[in-house]
Amino acid sequence: MLLLLLAWLVALSLGWNNTVVLKERVYFQIMQISSFYNHSWAENWFSSWLGELQIDRWDSELNTLVFLQSWSRDSLSHKELVDMQTSLHAHFIRFTEETQTFAHKLQLEYPFVLQVASGCELHSGEASVGFVREAYQGIDFLSLENNSWLPSPQGGSRAQQTCQLLNSYEGLKERIHWLLSDACPHFTLRLLDAGKEYLQRQEKPEAWLSNGPSPGPGRLLLVCRVSGFYPKPVWVTWMRDNWEQPGTEQSDVLPNADGTWYLRVTLEVTAGETDGLSCQVKHSSLGDQDMILRWEHHSSVGFIILAVIPLLALLTGLAFWSKKRW
Ligand SMILES: *[C@@H]1O[C@H](CO)[C@@H](O)[C@H](O)[C@H]1NC(C)=O
Repeated sequence: MLLLLLAWLVALSLGWNNTVVLKERVYFQIMQISSFYNHSWAENWFSSWLGELQIDRWDSELNTLVFLQSWSRDSLSHKELVDMQTSLHAHFIRFTEETQTFAHKLQLEYPFVLQVASGCELHSGEASVGFVREAYQGIDFLSLENNSWLPSPQGGSRAQQTCQLLNSYEGLKERIHWLLSDACPHFTLRLLDAGKEYLQRQEKPEAWLSNGPSPGPGRLLLVCRVSGFYPKPVWVTWMRDNWEQPGTEQSDVLPNADGTWYLRVTLEVTAGETDGLSCQVKHSSLGDQDMILRWEHHSSVGFIILAVIPLLALLTGLAFWSKKRW
């Protein structure tokens, strides 16, 4: 029942001729979130992802795919797109109907949310690995392991019963096996090929220094922000005279809205012990030319601004006052 999800991939089983050479592992997945409010009302959200890059989402008002990357749209013929949208639309209708039909038998209690992630992971020179994972009410429910449905321990008897039901559909298992091990990797390679210019681009980071909120009396939090770089791998740290500072703390590498990445690296120091400190950035777009930002420079600029602002305020005040007087 829950598995027609992959049906749309079938639409893409034509004309593969790929020239992509995989350098690292890459995965493609589709995600579906379905909220069932009562036995007659449900909503579906759907999106596809190439690694961490969102490719598209489903518009359930218009029953069309909205592409977030123009190259992925351009890689499909008009017929392929229409077929894909038709099978997705049919899938959502059947998925909703069948889940509603089995909800009572499988003890699914309204309101409930199902989340399904499925796709394949490709490694260079290795067979691709397909996966399907499903969650019920935000908790792991079941997954596909070695071509059979396995209940998650957290899923309880509900998950066991669902897996029993799913495992009885032999034809479905075969179809999913084909989709995950054959159609999905081919489709992924095709996407990688269509998007290679975009996916292999290099964008240089910008970096700047600032003071964070004071961690305590006599202490400073030095903040180095690095943003706008692509691809994601980056190395940023606080250095003192060529020595990496052990107290450096890194945020996660977070996405910007334009598809580039952002990172914040901090160091807590004693005020007055900032001599020789710098933030160093290594990134593929910079080649061997590391970006180095020295704290002294920053703090003197900060000092000048701090000194100038009150002066400006004073002068403005004086000018205003003398104008009034005259
Ligand atoms: C189902 O839920 C929807 C949305 O909350 C509501 O408008 C509708 O009246 C409900 N139907 C039934 C039969 O409870």
